[in-house]
Amino acid sequence: MYSACVQEFTQWRDVARPLLSAGTIPEDIEWRLGRQFEPLVPSLEAPAPLRLSRQLIELLETLSCYRHDGRWDLMYRLAWRSLRQPHLLEDAADPDVHRAMQMASAVNREVHKMHAFVRFREMTDEQGEKKYFAWFEPTHEVLRLGVPFFCKRFPNMEWMIATPDGTALWQNGELRFIETPEKSTLPKADAHEGLWRTYYRNICNVSRINPPAMKREMPQRYWRNLPESVEIQTLLRDGQASFAQRQREAMDLELAKARAMQRALADLPDHSGGPSACRRCDIWRHATQAVLGEGATSASIMLVGEQPGDEEDLRGRPFVGPAGRVLDEALKTAGLERGELYVTNAVKHFKWQPRGKRRLHKRPDASEVAACNHWLDAEVSQVKPRIIVALGASALRAVAGLTDSIESARQLQIPHASGAQVVCTYHPSAILRADPSNADQLRSHLVDDLRRARELAA
Ligand code: URA
Repeated sequence: MYSACVQEFTQWRDVARPLLSAGTIPEDIEWRLGRQFEPLVPSLEAPAPLRLSRQLIELLETLSCYRHDGRWDLMYRLAWRSLRQPHLLEDAADPDVHRAMQMASAVNREVHKMHAFVRFREMTDEQGEKKYFAWFEPTHEVLRLGVPFFCKRFPNMEWMIATPDGTALWQNGELRFIETPEKSTLPKADAHEGLWRTYYRNICNVSRINPPAMKREMPQRYWRNLPESVEIQTLLRDGQASFAQRQREAMDLELAKARAMQRALADLPDHSGGPSACRRCDIWRHATQAVLGEGATSASIMLVGEQPGDEEDLRGRPFVGPAGRVLDEALKTAGLERGELYVTNAVKHFKWQPRGKRRLHKRPDASEVAACNHWLDAEVSQVKPRIIVALGASALRAVAGLTDSIESARQLQIPHASGAQVVCTYHPSAILRADPSNADQLRSHLVDDLRRARELAA
């Protein structure tokens, strides 16, 4: 009989490997959760090589986050059985596989909640540097799985996400995990919290608040760490009429404070003039004007393109050139009305290079997309779409911080930090550029994805 005390995936893996190589049966191992890592494992002179599929390893890593003592046993049993039954994971009726899939969905849901409900608080250290701190209490131990999202989203900020299970620290582009400091020594709510609440009150569309759905999506134990939760409850109680009254009142001092909050959160030197006056990157120098998003500000679907093209730059409206015509056609086929959507771009200025007398589109680089993210976030906060359709690679990077191919991202369920769901698809320009044999297929994928967005929004 072997016994091992493990606390996280890599520890479990280091113990499980030699045991699996030795053919140790699951019943001969006692797995315990604990801080002391004292495995008693067989020492093998020539351990047999292990062939575990990538799918299995990813599943095991997800299961290791499920907060239940039985997880380590189940993980070992799955690995042990998969070595003997290579297609085990395809058997959804198998009790171990069934349980594992349920646990994995619960963990993935919790990762989604982490992305949606973590709220950073701004702090300034003795050197005057800004740092961001968040406290989060997940049902499952998802810190390690959930944190890469924030590394991609906020690469240039210094931040910390503390949970009861551990703390992730992001400093100088490097991620570290440390033990969570005593709760009493952690930073407390600061002045920005009041501003955030004011901001939330102003942007919240009370008619779209659906209490049962909210409680389902955001169990009430998360609420205490959300500055806006006090406001949500008041807004629900007060109803629409007094909300309108509040909004009128908010036009004065409160609104001014909320705007200050937006600025503080974005950590920008000055963007009081909006995207038109934005100088965070250099694209504006050669563009005619900033092209802002347009459409219904209560839209449940937001379409995000890459950047304005030549015609958009001159007319000051998104998707009104050749790509816009392809998009309009696809929207029609998918049963969507452009007027009911909100259409915008990841980058608000036209980046181009001269070719004779023509201005040829030039793809914005990652830093330019990141620089413009502030404006896109502000649009998402205002419109609060349920579905965000990322058209092409730059939009996918802006919306979800992902660099996957469109082909593979189309298959993913991607949560947006706002709680919206991201649907990724091909950019209409890809259809214009494709050779005719491929163009029809891309067009039909675009239509399918828009249709899916329509169904999800409904
Ligand atoms: N391509 C885009 O991504 N956006 C536009 O507005 C036009 C072309």
